Amino acid sequence: MKIILGTDALSLAADVLVLFISEKTDLTQTQNFPELAVCVQKFGKNFMDLAEREQFTGKSGQILSWNTSGTIAAKQLLLVGLDVQESSNICVLKESAANAGRWCKEHHVKEAVGVIPGDIAERFGADSASQAVTIGFMNSMYVFNKYKHQKSVSTHQLQQITVTVTGDQSAAQTGITRGVAISEAIQYARDLINEPASVTTPAYLAHEAEKLGTSDGRISAEILGPSEMQQLGMGALLAIARGSTAEPRFIILRYRGKGKRTVAIAGKGITFDTGGLSLKSADGMETMKLDMSGASAVLALFRLLPQLQPAVNVVGIIPATENMPGPDAVKPGDIAVAMNGKTIEILNTDAEGRVVLADALSYAAQKIKPDVIIDIATLTGACMVALGTDVAGLFSNDKALAQQLLAAADKSGEKVWELPLVVEYRKLLDSTVADIKNIAGRYGGAITGALFIQDFVPAQTQWAHLDIAGPSFAEKDTPLTPRGGTGFGIQMLAEYLMKAE
Ligand code: BES
Ligand code: ZN
Ligand code: ZN
Repeated sequence: MKIILGTDALSLAADVLVLFISEKTDLTQTQNFPELAVCVQKFGKNFMDLAEREQFTGKSGQILSWNTSGTIAAKQLLLVGLDVQESSNICVLKESAANAGRWCKEHHVKEAVGVIPGDIAERFGADSASQAVTIGFMNSMYVFNKYKHQKSVSTHQLQQITVTVTGDQSAAQTGITRGVAISEAIQYARDLINEPASVTTPAYLAHEAEKLGTSDGRISAEILGPSEMQQLGMGALLAIARGSTAEPRFIILRYRGKGKRTVAIAGKGITFDTGGLSLKSADGMETMKLDMSGASAVLALFRLLPQLQPAVNVVGIIPATENMPGPDAVKPGDIAVAMNGKTIEILNTDAEGRVVLADALSYAAQKIKPDVIIDIATLTGACMVALGTDVAGLFSNDKALAQQLLAAADKSGEKVWELPLVVEYRKLLDSTVADIKNIAGRYGGAITGALFIQDFVPAQTQWAHLDIAGPSFAEKDTPLTPRGGTGFGIQMLAEYLMKAE
């Protein structure tokens, strides 16, 4: 699909002309929206009657379509509700564009024109607005149907979208270009998550990382296998990997920015989580190919970095393994020694994410020595109990970092809520035989998961943990995210890295 910047929307011959209409827009008072004014005037009373009959008020999700019969260059006019309030951020436009995209998909539209209203362009800037429309349209088109003979989406789906917007046209073009790159990165992550776990093995992820290396050396990938892990003392990751016949991989991606500071981002890469010997139920296992969503966010970010070119240096770290109950699997009660020398009593083999992250964060601390460490992981079902399926939990040892990440998420429209690192709960992880155990009691599971990880982060390093167990996978279709992997976290981390210095 091609997204281009255009002008003079009414003269563009397309299947559909999309006008985004804010709630309570008075269709008789359209002086600030020339395209709408012309349509209202040309289509006259019949059109207004239809809008009234359909009770079109510009509410989010509302769509009104009108056959133009050649009165304007586009064949159909589509009014799409835009739920913009005083407190709204730019995401409302992303959602409306996705609603329009979904309509186009259902109606086999090939070419559309999307008009960003002048007041929206003025309020959010031509760059942010055109980026949002681009991501909205493109994300709504995503399907994962490579294994289906009968494709639900026809091959006639949207091929070109022309966006028009008032204001700085070069900023608008930047917004479109960036929107395309971000959406492609999201779709790449979604593919990795949706692909069956027998395909996306640790070796597969490592191969993907290798492909992300650039010839100019700005991005490089380093892959460690079991013997290198052994040499480095990664006993935690190796313990989890023991139950599987698939070899683990430890992936390090490096991006060189122009700045001095370094941000390390570690993504949980459990390519399938059976729970190990602490086996999950059949139901609980159904979607566990999603357990490498953190890893896929890291890979997608590195795909995006050459285009975004943030100033900071970024190091991506992925501990990748399956969590299987094979004959040599780690047993409840076994003790693993992490790379930083700490001993971990593994009492529940299903709490494996924190164990592999122990080595990832130890590696970051010892070998990378970054200024900031962020980990992103589908870590706990408890976080979903606390925040529901749509909201990620954020934990941090640093107020400023937490604020920066929350601001980035607010801008991207990803829902994130900060939860506390209750120091008093750390004793729940005290083991009678090792330095720490990998499970605590019944309550506060998202917090104790985060506290476990914190044990492997140097106290003076700014650190944040994102528990994305809920939002990494959508059980239901929505216009912006069809059922399956969502690509959660990519946009907010991209936003954060662009601001990080
Ligand atoms: N991968 C799961 C967490 C998860 C659950 C992600 C549901 C997405 C959806 C994780 O490895 C896990 O199994 N966690 C356990 C921890 C428990 C044993 C302390 C959990 O949440 O039940
Ligand atoms: Zn698990
Ligand atoms: Zn897991």
